[in-house]
Amino acid sequence: MKNIAVFASGNGSNFQAILNAAQKGKIPADIKLLVCDNTEAYVLKRAQRAKIKAFIVDRRDFLNRKGLEEQILKKLRAEKIDLIALAGFMRILSADFVRRYKNKILNIHPALLPSFKGADAIKDAFRYGVKITGVTVHFVDEEMDHGPIILQEAVKISKGDSLEVLEKRIHRLEHRIYPQAIKLLLENKLCLQGRNVTII
Ligand code: GRF
Repeated sequence: MKNIAVFASGNGSNFQAILNAAQKGKIPADIKLLVCDNTEAYVLKRAQRAKIKAFIVDRRDFLNRKGLEEQILKKLRAEKIDLIALAGFMRILSADFVRRYKNKILNIHPALLPSFKGADAIKDAFRYGVKITGVTVHFVDEEMDHGPIILQEAVKISKGDSLEVLEKRIHRLEHRIYPQAIKLLLENKLCLQGRNVTII
């Protein structure tokens, strides 16, 4: 059994999806820790309800990122964390942090990378007028929304679809493929060569 820490800043629906999958035995992992940088975030309520430890870091302290990341790293070591799942964590982790957990940090992005990087990907894709967008789960490297792609699935945008409808569809897909990607990694079914990830 591996130990997972989820990093989230907001609603936490992906945290919930990962947690549900772990609790149902669909992924061989314990969700040991939530790292959250927003005291108002709904994800904290979700963690409390599920009795998952939450490590709250103050956003303002991110000005002193090095010290703050040291605190997080200490906590991760204390909890014997094997894998980090970023799920709507609105902070960029330093290159140093990422290197310490090389190929052990995943992220989910609500678009088909490398298109529409950044914090407003669903809206950006919708406004751009693309006919197909989707969801990407990838390894985290030193660049934002950039690491090797593990899973990617498409979502069609049809005539008349609203942004709200698209958001719902994207989130539903996220909740399905994030646990799936975690499962593949934990079961050693991913072979990483350069940027290419092969599912064995
Ligand atoms: C998701 O759309 C995820 O792809 C992005 O941030 C959002 C987080 O949503 N990185 P939630 O907090 O998991 O509901």
